[in-house]
Amino acid sequence: MTSLAQPFHQPTDQPTDQPTDQPTNQLADQPLHPSVSPSVNHAQRPLILGVTGASGLIYAVRALKFLLAADYAIELVASKSTYMVWQAEENLRMPVEGLQQEQFWRQQAGVSDRGQLRCHPWGDVGANIASGSFRTRGMLVMPCSMSTVGKLAAGLSSDLLERAADVQLKEGRKLVIVPRETPFSLIHLRNLTTLAEAGARIVPAIPAWYHQPQSIEDLIDFVVARALDQFEIDCVPLKRWQGHLETGHLETGHLETSQLETSQSETSQSESEQG
Ligand SMILES: Cc1cc2nc3c(=O)[nH]c(=O)nc-3n(C[C@H](O)[C@H](O)[C@H](O)COP(=O)(O)O)c2cc1C
Repeated sequence: MTSLAQPFHQPTDQPTDQPTDQPTNQLADQPLHPSVSPSVNHAQRPLILGVTGASGLIYAVRALKFLLAADYAIELVASKSTYMVWQAEENLRMPVEGLQQEQFWRQQAGVSDRGQLRCHPWGDVGANIASGSFRTRGMLVMPCSMSTVGKLAAGLSSDLLERAADVQLKEGRKLVIVPRETPFSLIHLRNLTTLAEAGARIVPAIPAWYHQPQSIEDLIDFVVARALDQFEIDCVPLKRWQGHLETGHLETGHLETSQLETSQSETSQSESEQG
């Protein structure tokens, strides 16, 4: 079968007509990445965060925490089914209205006054992110249900999340899907393949273990970091694999911590402790 795969677009951080206001508030509870300075304007092009009714809302919460703490601008759209999952996983009711939802997500992320967050009601297909003329960095759908995977693969846009994702594909922008289901049926796999062929990046919620996770947050953050890597965004503390320093380690099976480099200095431990 002929592959329809398109090259994954490189990030373009050229100035745009997006607001350039800088947040002037105090640091959030999360230390910033060394490369992140409050003077850097990450708000030029917002990242769309789509949240569906798949299990694992914590993935979206952790992503939001790190992105807002690093002053990114986020356009968030949660599907209708997300409300039920919030209730099931956290016994919480997510507000429908945009401003109340913003407060809700900020509270869950633990970042009250950094970054820019705009939440869109799931049915508002007239929102900015429903149009290709609204420029973005692309869209991350995390966690992504098999229902949304199927609809996106079929080109359906029955709510704002699906429309925004469809727009990213048609505009040749980044669309990163973090599917959450197990096991996958053949239909799921075919739909994911269709999306990959259309240019989407599939980053399954499958953590690695070589970074020596000490907490559930470490496992979650690995997936979050790898998903954000697709946008060249590096704001999550992650011990990145640096390769074997000595072949002897292969024989002993012993992994020295010096072979792992924490991408956010000295924050991984405090992050785990906060956990
Ligand atoms: C508590 C809960 C957990 C769910 N977890 C998943 C999941 O992990 N993956 C999935 O594909 N669907 C899951 N579902 C089913 C979806 O929510 C359902 O298919 C819904 O129609 C998805 O709609 P959406 O894709 O528009 O959010 C879950 C439902 C509930 C209530």
